[in-house]
Amino acid sequence: MQLEKHPITGRKAGKEIQFLFNGELLKAKEGQTVAAALMANGIKEFGKSRKLLQSRGLYCATGRCTNCFVTINGLEHSISCTTVLEDGMKVESNNADPTRREPNEN
Ligand code: FES
Repeated sequence: MQLEKHPITGRKAGKEIQFLFNGELLKAKEGQTVAAALMANGIKEFGKSRKLLQSRGLYCATGRCTNCFVTINGLEHSISCTTVLEDGMKVESNNADPTRREPNEN
């Protein structure tokens, strides 16, 4: 479910955009976070924990718990609940340890 107009602020939803999640083309609204777009598409499991293979997804929704990590445009372990979705983004589940990043990479 997505609100077309916020009942209190009156803010309207943005225009429709598209993104990929694990290779599947999905629709979202401009201005949504990656996590909100996944939830709006009925996806609650964003990935699995690397050790116990337990489902991971939205938990705190404030960028503090690291439960919603996904790979966004190749950048592993990105926080989906605070990252605003962009048209054409490629989002993938994180199901393993991240690869080592060089110090000057994001
Ligand atoms: S849900 Fe906790 S950091 Fe995203």
